[in-house]
Formats: sequence, structure tokens, C-alpha cells
Amino acid sequence: MGALQYIKNFIQDKDVAAIAPSSKFLVERVCRWIDFSEPCRIVEYGPGDGVFSEYMLEHMGPESSLLLIESNENFVRQLRERTRRDDRATVVCDRAENVREIMEAIQMPEADYVVSGIPFSFLDDDTRKDLLVRTRSVLSDDGKFLVYQNYNHMEEPLRRHFPSVTKEYELFNLPPMFAYEALKNGPDNGQHLRANSAS
Ligand SMILES: C[S@@+](CC[C@H](N)C(=O)[O-])C[C@H]1O[C@@H](n2cnc3c(N)ncnc32)[C@H](O)[C@@H]1O
Repeated sequence: MGALQYIKNFIQDKDVAAIAPSSKFLVERVCRWIDFSEPCRIVEYGPGDGVFSEYMLEHMGPESSLLLIESNENFVRQLRERTRRDDRATVVCDRAENVREIMEAIQMPEADYVVSGIPFSFLDDDTRKDLLVRTRSVLSDDGKFLVYQNYNHMEEPLRRHFPSVTKEYELFNLPPMFAYEALKNGPDNGQHLRANSAS
């Protein structure tokens, strides 16, 4: 997809939320949290034109799988074209909010990683909370939720829903991005979450 088409998608669809794909610096920073040496099941929310997807497909092994959930039809067409010859990849035109139903439909029981670039700030509070709960529920016991956002509004909700969150900052991206690694289960065996849900 050319730069012009990307900008057109941005103008036509507010959910695209970026005028250009993520930089290779951001892709590498986020994907450093993925252990590609083991077979893994990855779900990506909002892959856009596939800059993360392509990197992950390049680095993951033959027994791994990648589910791409993208709401913009133009991007979906491009992703299908880009992954046509790779049967590790499944592209679904839908919203991340439906992750559980989508995974059931393709018989993916759980995910080792969920990588997300969707603009969480566009979701209302209930939808955002529900998506965090759903995302944690589809992760395997040692699964991770990897998120990048252009300002630091996700740190607090992530900490509320995930027991261990690491934050980094990538300057070499337009715009610069916060990146988070959130673990489904942290070293305290979920006590932190039980305390949060009680309050
Ligand atoms: C900021 S762009 C990131 C694109 C790509 N991941 C990248 O890093 O260049 C956000 C992407 O999320 C998609 N998107 C936004 N909300 C979504 C949702 N609720 N479910 C699925 N995709 C969504 C947009 O269409 C867009 O492709």
C-alpha cells in the first residue's frame, strides 16, 4: 500500500488513527517481548497494512500461527494479499472487541501473545474495560498482551487488569509511542488482581 492510500484510509476511517505505518524501530521494540524460538499463537488487533504482521511471520516458526483482526476493509484486502501464500496467517475483517468469538470460530483455543495497535482512547470506558478483560481471558497462563499507544493513557488500565506491566518509549516513530508488555500472570500469582477486583 502506498503512502497516499494509507492517508486516504486515515481520512475516511477515524479508527485508522495514524497517517503512516509504525516504524521498524517500534516494531522491533515491541517484538523483542516475543519469544520466536518457541512455537506460538499470536493474535494481532489492528494490523493496518501489516508492518507488524510481516515482521512476526518472518520471525516465527512453521508451527506458529497468527490471527489478524482488522476492522478497515481496505487494510483487510491488502493483508489477505500480503499473507495469501502463508497458511500460518488468518485474516478476519472484524473488531478486536469480538476476539473471543473469532478465536472460537477458527478453533484457536488461546493466544500466547496479543499484540495491539488499536486506538484504545477511541473506545468508551466500558468497551475498553471489557476488551482488557476479554484479552486477558484469551491468553495462555504465561501469555502477554503487548500494546503501543501514542500517549500514556493505557498504563493505569493495564496495571489494573494485568499483574505485571513494563513500559518503554520509542522516539523513532511518527508519532513517538509508548509500548507496554503486560503479563497475564505476574510473580504475585494474581493477588494484585484479586485485590483490585475486591475494591
Ligand atoms: C494506529 S493504526 C496501526 C496500524 C499498524 N498496526 C501499524 O502499527 O502500523 C490502528 C489500526 O487499528 C485498526 N482498528 C482500529 N480499531 C479497531 C478495532 N476495534 N478492531 C480492529 N481493528 C481496529 C485500524 O483500522 C488501523 O488499521
